Amino acid sequence: MELLGMTTIFLLICISCLLLVATWRNISQNGKQPPGPFALPLAGNILQLNPKNLPESMKKLNEKYGPIFTIYLGPQKIVVLYGHDVVKEALIDQADDFSGRGNLPLLKRLFNGTGIVTSNGETWKQLRRFALTTLRDFGMGKRSIEERIQEEAHFLVERIRNTHEKPFNPGGFLTHAASNIICSIVFGDRFDYEDKKFLTLINLLDENTKYQGAIQTQLYNFFPTLMEFLPGPHQELLKNIYKVDKFILEIITQHKETWDPSCTRDFIDAFLNKMDQEKGNDHSEFTVESLTRTTLDLFFAGTGTTSITLRHALLILQKYPEIQEKAQKEIDRVIGRDRSPCMADRSQMPYTDAVIHEIQRFIDLIPLNLPHTVIKDIKFRNYFIPKDTTILPMLGPILHDSKEFPNPEKFDPGHFLNANGTFKKSNFFMPFSAGKRICAGEGLARMELFIFLTSILQNFTLKPVVDHKKIDITPLIASAASIPRPYEVSFVPR
Ligand code: HEM
Ligand SMILES: *[C@@H]1O[C@H](CO)[C@@H](O)[C@H](O)[C@H]1NC(C)=O
Ligand SMILES: *[C@@H]1O[C@H](CO)[C@@H](O)[C@H](O)[C@H]1NC(C)=O
Repeated sequence: MELLGMTTIFLLICISCLLLVATWRNISQNGKQPPGPFALPLAGNILQLNPKNLPESMKKLNEKYGPIFTIYLGPQKIVVLYGHDVVKEALIDQADDFSGRGNLPLLKRLFNGTGIVTSNGETWKQLRRFALTTLRDFGMGKRSIEERIQEEAHFLVERIRNTHEKPFNPGGFLTHAASNIICSIVFGDRFDYEDKKFLTLINLLDENTKYQGAIQTQLYNFFPTLMEFLPGPHQELLKNIYKVDKFILEIITQHKETWDPSCTRDFIDAFLNKMDQEKGNDHSEFTVESLTRTTLDLFFAGTGTTSITLRHALLILQKYPEIQEKAQKEIDRVIGRDRSPCMADRSQMPYTDAVIHEIQRFIDLIPLNLPHTVIKDIKFRNYFIPKDTTILPMLGPILHDSKEFPNPEKFDPGHFLNANGTFKKSNFFMPFSAGKRICAGEGLARMELFIFLTSILQNFTLKPVVDHKKIDITPLIASAASIPRPYEVSFVPR
């Protein structure tokens, strides 16, 4: 009895202490720091944040606290930027200050702070600059990046033709095509779709997408120390990343054996050249480790994003046969049926261009964006934001802004067309984010989306297996990405 009483008192003291700490933390942020809901010690705002649908939780907090607010993801403080103006002021007008990459515990664990996506400082600057120039360099190897995409589009179309109008889920084909673009750029050549090595790699990447969506993986960001010890899909994700690492390392070794500085075949060769140039420099950022991580980054950032966008696109086009037909007419007029689409065609195809923009706007692929940090103490909108504070400059609210895009929840290519049918640019089109951290693969991704989609529509008409009016194109929110509902479709040759 006495013992029980002592324990109760002890527990009460503990709880009071924790509450005191929490109150102190919430008070100390008054005035100078952006407002936000009361946060529990350790658990943070778990009560206000639904890990399964963070965008929805953010919407509610925005209604209460305005365009800039503070939340706690577990013990980690995050300042959320909600809406076009506040995000533009941060990422574009104060670009340098907001150029740091925030380290969500899961990202930190997966990437160890190297590569491009999760690195900071000099490492990030140099690796990003190198990747941008190499991805832009049309002289890499004998073929331009555009030609590599055209080649892949050709194989994709032939593979679809072989399905002979039988309905199927095109997800796998699209993943293979998007992965092969990265393979072609990084490893020098595409793989055959039946290649065992290729299928192993794809399988690993596929599984990772699944593991990333799991609730345990999301909880890792709230309670990293605890989740580190618990079994579950997040552990499989970590194991998988090491397997992909090994795969890449093998290919790097092969490249080293056949390396010839006078003939740059691909991204890895370009990187080996750079390593060679910096041989005497002990502080060089160009090492085998950073090459492995950068390669992994390109797969991680560049395959799921593009293929999921294409999966959305093929579902949306089934829902709106009249939009599909209009794009096909434009393709027939500008490109015809006898040659591959190329990027030079795009400027003469405002309607198709508007459709692709509208797809990216509508699906809002990465609603929360990736986390940033401020790289020094700054003043922002009269708030004080200390160095290293994690910033979430959300993209969803910008892409679905109802002033810029009337009726934003409706799919309507008119959002990107002038009354006279010309293409209408919008500063709110930010699916790739903005500023210094803007997607490093934007140019590549837009080439892929244009060439793959026009090639498919040039050769096939999409025929749904259900009444097109019944198709549900609203995305499912899975972790940080919006993915389409599963579907089958039949491709009818034109
Ligand atoms: C539809 C396709 C894609 C979308 C919607 C997309 C979107 C994004 C977004 C929102 C970010 C975060 C930007 C920020 O932190 O502010 C990002 C970063 C990045 N993306 Fe993409 N991306 C796509 C395709 C690609 C492709 C094909 C590549 C491959 C080269 C790629 C490589 C990267 C890299 C390396 C980063 C990190 C940039 C940095 O931290 O400096 N992305 N992307
Ligand atoms: C992570 O980075 C640290 C420091 O750069 C390094 O010592 C360590 O080996 C890395 N860990 C992994 C798993 O790559
Ligand atoms: C079409 O309309 C836009 C804006 O409404 C205008 O800027 C553009 O010059 C027009 N183009 C043509 C060819 O009429």
